[in-house]
Amino acid sequence: MTTLTLQTHREEQTVALGHRLGALSQAGDLFLLSGALGTGKTCLVRGIAAGLGVSVRPFSPSFVLVRQYPGRLLLYHMDFYRLDQLAEIADLGLEDYLYGDGVCAIEWAERARGLLPDEHLRLALRYVPSDEQARTIQITAEGERYDRLLEEVSMSARAMRLCN
Ligand SMILES: Nc1ncnc2c1ncn2[C@@H]1O[C@H](COP(=O)(O)OP(=O)(O)OP(=O)(O)O)[C@@H](O)[C@H]1O
Ligand SMILES: [Mg+2]
Repeated sequence: MTTLTLQTHREEQTVALGHRLGALSQAGDLFLLSGALGTGKTCLVRGIAAGLGVSVRPFSPSFVLVRQYPGRLLLYHMDFYRLDQLAEIADLGLEDYLYGDGVCAIEWAERARGLLPDEHLRLALRYVPSDEQARTIQITAEGERYDRLLEEVSMSARAMRLCN
């Protein structure tokens, strides 16, 4: 497990970080996003989509549990905010998405703890009390594939001046 903590100073930087993640994505990648309402999870997914070459702009999928966006790879965007029963999540047939050839980005992924693969990239977003436009983003890699991905993201984040 490796961790990188960085800070974005406005929405565009969060989108740009997502864009880099999307560009570096491989088939089967899994991104678990957590953080309070409005911290920027959907902004990050918007960037991931753009980095994957998706031509439309993802919006919050709250009323539909899974949205699919074709790009260089298929992006599955999920949001578990409205799911409070683990059974409901289990009923979604997640395996088809998680172990397919696409890329999964899941908002409120912590609600499905125990149902998701151990290997993933976790992105935890937090408000910065002193700055309305800033967010702390803690990125944790679980598994070899994600250790490597995090290394690449770390280099980009430094170039983008997002590291503390
Ligand atoms: N540094 C930043 N990064 C991302 N979003 C920011 C930042 N600063 C301000 N914002 C604003 O915060 C909001 C983030 O909204 P977004 O829908 O992405 O949040 P969310 O985490 O997906 O919320 P929800 O839990 O409701 O799905 C947007 O209105 C965006 O403009
Ligand atoms: Mg959202």
